[in-house]
Amino acid sequence: MIKKILTVAIISSFTMVSCNNNVETKNNSKEVNTQKSLLVADSTIAKKGKSIAMGTFKILNYKLKSAIKLGGPIAGIDVCSSEAMKLTDSISKVYNVGLKRTSIKYRNEKNIPTDSEKSILEAWQTQIDGGNPIKPSITRNEGVITFVAPIKLKQQCIVCHGSDDFVSPDVRLKIKEHYPTDLARNYKEGDLRGAWVITFPKDYFNEQ
Ligand code: HEC
Repeated sequence: MIKKILTVAIISSFTMVSCNNNVETKNNSKEVNTQKSLLVADSTIAKKGKSIAMGTFKILNYKLKSAIKLGGPIAGIDVCSSEAMKLTDSISKVYNVGLKRTSIKYRNEKNIPTDSEKSILEAWQTQIDGGNPIKPSITRNEGVITFVAPIKLKQQCIVCHGSDDFVSPDVRLKIKEHYPTDLARNYKEGDLRGAWVITFPKDYFNEQ
């Protein structure tokens, strides 16, 4: 399963490489490259960003589900606390992008949102409260492109992020042990849980 996901990810990144080579030519001038990154289509950024986020989610979810199947949510917490950061770090290196998950009501303090991530999350929440759809955010800053995509809570997440009705006392205890300042509780299915933040360094799309 993991193999399959990685193959798909690798194939799709090669496809992107060959497509872009025809259009873009390398140029070392800082100014020209900054302008070029402004020209990269939102759809190209969104496609790449979504494929990295989905690929990471699939691997993490596969590991989580396998652990829960064997040892219940308690074993799942071990996977999340020991694997989630390692996985985002290694995928970030493979793709040469910045990659993290964040949330206003975070569990791990390392996932605290920056001011700009917080404003995006708050704006999405306002839109959701008003019954409006939300979409990923793309920002460009001196050639660096940041793609932020929402993470919604699924039914399967409730055992660790839901209310006391769904999170068993032993799971609550284990979470408290690992994350004494945990805020990531009392979510309902469909709630905005947080975001994927993918940062494409300067020239990322020009060099592919
Ligand atoms: C087995 C328990 C468990 C399940 C099930 C679970 N999570 Fe988590 N989640 C955690 C733990 C533990 C962390 C802290 C991980 C870390 O240390 O990076 C976490 C962190 C997160 C974060 C990072 C932001 C933060 O709060 O630190 C997001 C986003 C998240 N979970 C979303 C989800 C979603 C969406 C699902 C369902 C698809 C889900 N989780 C299912 C235990 C779980």
